[in-house]
Amino acid sequence: MNALRKAGQKHSSTASLPTGIAAKTRHVFDVGDCLDVLAKIPDESVQLIVCDPPYNILLADWDDHLDYIAWAKEWLVEAERVLSPTGSIVIFGGLQYQGEAGSGDLLSIISHMRQHSRMLLANLIVWNYPNGTSAQRFFASRHEEIAWFAKTKKYYFDLDAVREPYDEETKAAYMKDKRLNPESVEKGRNPTNVWRMSRLNGNSLERVGHPTQKPAAVIERLVRALSYPGSTVLDFFAGSGVTARVAIQEGRNSICTDADPVFRDYVAKQLDFLRQDDLLGTARQYQIIDGLDITRPEAAE
Ligand SMILES: C[S@@+](CC[C@H](N)C(=O)[O-])C[C@H]1O[C@@H](n2cnc3c(N)ncnc32)[C@H](O)[C@@H]1O
Repeated sequence: MNALRKAGQKHSSTASLPTGIAAKTRHVFDVGDCLDVLAKIPDESVQLIVCDPPYNILLADWDDHLDYIAWAKEWLVEAERVLSPTGSIVIFGGLQYQGEAGSGDLLSIISHMRQHSRMLLANLIVWNYPNGTSAQRFFASRHEEIAWFAKTKKYYFDLDAVREPYDEETKAAYMKDKRLNPESVEKGRNPTNVWRMSRLNGNSLERVGHPTQKPAAVIERLVRALSYPGSTVLDFFAGSGVTARVAIQEGRNSICTDADPVFRDYVAKQLDFLRQDDLLGTARQYQIIDGLDITRPEAAE
């Protein structure tokens, strides 16, 4: 990648991608089991899958599978099929420290993928949050992981879209440092694979009512870095619908579904947030498509 940059050329993952934000993006919502949803999605049609699965920790009725990996492998295979060669899947989760035998966690998924998938583990991102519950019999947990698997070595990754700006003082000092490239200093730092971002508190304004809603800021960083404007983001465990909201804001198309019918209510709330953005004149043009019969964005006109 560095050699290509020096020669003024793009990495093969970005060279042939369309550039610029689509005038109007399309967003499909539906209620359904993940496997039924995936079966309707064409091969290699998705750039990024945001995947935050249930892990048998009985947070809700949907969180209960007798043989976790036997179930998970069915959607993992399908996820790989629908990803484009430049695509990625990011899987949220952690370690079930005191999990029951046979239960699943992100470690069991990673181990399964290593043995049964050709996808590459590009990063294991540690999401470190300052806020969480207290504990007396063990150290209180303050991290969750996000496993980023790329479908092929040609994966798309836009680091510049997610760089963190230096503060003025640091920037001024780095600009004087002859060993550093001023262009890179101007762009900001690589946010690294440890992300310190708060979880949503119970009274967070972002909340729409889902028990495990992820912060938009976390999803936003993933969408900006691993998908490009006009590409399609899929979330088949969409929960609160936050992925759709971020996709709309970032000029990506999306397909967001969940097995729980209450998903429709959450989506309605997310769209309300966007309408508030409309009032501020910041939102993009987008089209909502209710029902998965139309899964290919180009067929959705
Ligand atoms: C951990 S939550 C996802 C939360 C979401 N990432 C968010 O930020 O709001 C998992 C979701 O998977 C859904 N789910 C569980 N089993 C499912 C299945 N077989 N097919 C589709 N969705 C399922 C649940 O209804 C739940 O909303």
